[in-house]
Amino acid sequence: MIEQKEQVEQTRKAFEQEFGRFVHLQTGEINNLSLSEAESLGRELYDLRIKHTGKKSELANAKKLIGRVAPEERGTFGQFVQTVEKEIAEKLDASENALKEFIANAKIERERIDVTLPGTRLREGHLHLLTLLRQQIEDIFVSMGYAIEDDREIDTDYYNFDALNIPENHPARESQDTFYTTDGFALRSQTSTVQIRAMERRGVPIRIIAPGRVFRRDTPDLTHTPMFHQIEGLCVDKGITMAHLKGTIGEWVRRMFGKNTIVRMRPSYFPFTEPSAEFDYSCFKCGGTGAIAGERCRPCKGSGWIELGGSGMVHPNVLRNCGVDPEIYTGFAFGFGLERMCALMYSLDDIRLMFENDVRFLEQFK
Ligand code: DAH
Repeated sequence: MIEQKEQVEQTRKAFEQEFGRFVHLQTGEINNLSLSEAESLGRELYDLRIKHTGKKSELANAKKLIGRVAPEERGTFGQFVQTVEKEIAEKLDASENALKEFIANAKIERERIDVTLPGTRLREGHLHLLTLLRQQIEDIFVSMGYAIEDDREIDTDYYNFDALNIPENHPARESQDTFYTTDGFALRSQTSTVQIRAMERRGVPIRIIAPGRVFRRDTPDLTHTPMFHQIEGLCVDKGITMAHLKGTIGEWVRRMFGKNTIVRMRPSYFPFTEPSAEFDYSCFKCGGTGAIAGERCRPCKGSGWIELGGSGMVHPNVLRNCGVDPEIYTGFAFGFGLERMCALMYSLDDIRLMFENDVRFLEQFK
């Protein structure tokens, strides 16, 4: 029986040794564990239980020995085996329970929501100042019965120049030099292209405005960027005159800048209009006086007028190019740049600011 007892003793020692690293679980050190460490310790502990108390364990073998020892020693030996078995089971239970409790608490802790913590606030964006200005202008024209036309930014020479009565070698092509792609395409240098496309598509009578991006081969500086925005207007019907042009632009600027705003027109030249005029409006800042409290007014540079854009009566050649009979129909057209208008309204010295996308700049204009 000495021999058998020795064997059980060995089993107990083997367990003690392997269980060594779990002992601290009962002494509170458990609190330093992370949840995943605790979970993996739990799995190891389970393996240890199977190994030392399962059907194929040394202890199970020892139990089989009970029947083999001499009958008078069987009771003592049996008790000894039971004590060892109980001791192992108790130790395993204690560690396991400590782990289970810790894991349960850690899970609760992890899932706890502190309703008093500030939430993650979404940073609300807003439209770009040019978009806002464009929409404001669109609204005014839509209310006057104009449709909004959107069209391509890459177009052919024909639409950008020829159809607009700017034949090859015409000097106007030079001032509107743009960026060319292969195969005779170019980035449009003016939104006037849309006049042609819209009349081709919709026919006449027609009333449209065409806002959009245009491109020119300019070196960027305070007042130039190689890409900028224009809004084009076109109205063709029977009996349209220059008076309608002036009236329309006057109505628009009054709604934009106040009811006392007035418009003036100066004779000018554009290949696609005859006669042509540039139009100015009385300064929104000084009301046309050119001075504010005795000082020279800034936006109008003391003149009382702000240049806005070009306009005129659509050239008969342009109408003909679109299949419209100039003996029956007449029309006016106008076009202007958004950036310049925007810069004056907000006192910006440098139009490049609008395209640098610095949020600190942009968020001032909502
Ligand atoms: N397309 C001209 C430009 O880019 C602006 C313009 C002038 C448009 C007169 C017009 C117009 O429709 O009638 O400088």
